[in-house]
Amino acid sequence: MTELQRAPQPGAEDLTDHLRDRWSVSVFDDSHELTTDEVRRLLTAAQWAPSAGNSQPWSFLVATRGSVAHDVLVKHLSRGNSGWVPRASAVFITLAQVAEDPEGNGPKWPTYSYYDLGQAAAHLTVQAAAMGLASHQFAGFDHDAVAADLDVPAWWQVMTGIAVGVRGNPADVDPRDAEREDRERTRRPLSQIAFGERWGVAWEG
Ligand SMILES: Cc1cc2nc3c(=O)[nH]c(=O)nc-3n(C[C@H](O)[C@H](O)[C@H](O)COP(=O)(O)O)c2cc1C
Repeated sequence: MTELQRAPQPGAEDLTDHLRDRWSVSVFDDSHELTTDEVRRLLTAAQWAPSAGNSQPWSFLVATRGSVAHDVLVKHLSRGNSGWVPRASAVFITLAQVAEDPEGNGPKWPTYSYYDLGQAAAHLTVQAAAMGLASHQFAGFDHDAVAADLDVPAWWQVMTGIAVGVRGNPADVDPRDAEREDRERTRRPLSQIAFGERWGVAWEG
């Protein structure tokens, strides 16, 4: 599959470049490292996402390849993710605050914590694309084991990992991991997701 075929299409030609550039890379260069400044910039993109009541109910465990947090995560990856995730330069483990802490501090509207974290994650991945970096989010790991091993308090919920790095050579990885990148990228049509007159009636634009 060519880079162009990986871009969302048809109908998405006019999206901003960084949205068009983003796709979930599964072959990372395992010799690449992110600089501290790059990691800070990615976190800053997430930090500046909007949230309900500006509650910012998100946090991130920065697991750079070779760090203690990374070793813990790698141990608990699902089989399908255990080949490609460890090669990324860093994994941002995302967490949502879903209840008050023992001092009574917490998200004003916990219902929106997941929404807000997802938005922060999206900002991070689009910032990554703008920096020429590849990313791939994943939920396939043992969340409880990661939370326990990394001392996550009960009022925070481990949600996903965001693997970030640069794309590697498919010839360097297990063919099953290389093949993941050749899957066609598809989306439901707008007529199924955008409604006008009322729910279920396709928006006519
Ligand atoms: C919450 C979430 C969980 C995901 N979990 C996994 C996963 O465990 N393994 C994986 O390979 N991809 C995972 N993905 C990536 C999706 O499969 C991918 O985003 C989707 O197929 C669309 O592809 P694209 O990002 O290239 O547009 C996950 C994405 C999200 C947002």
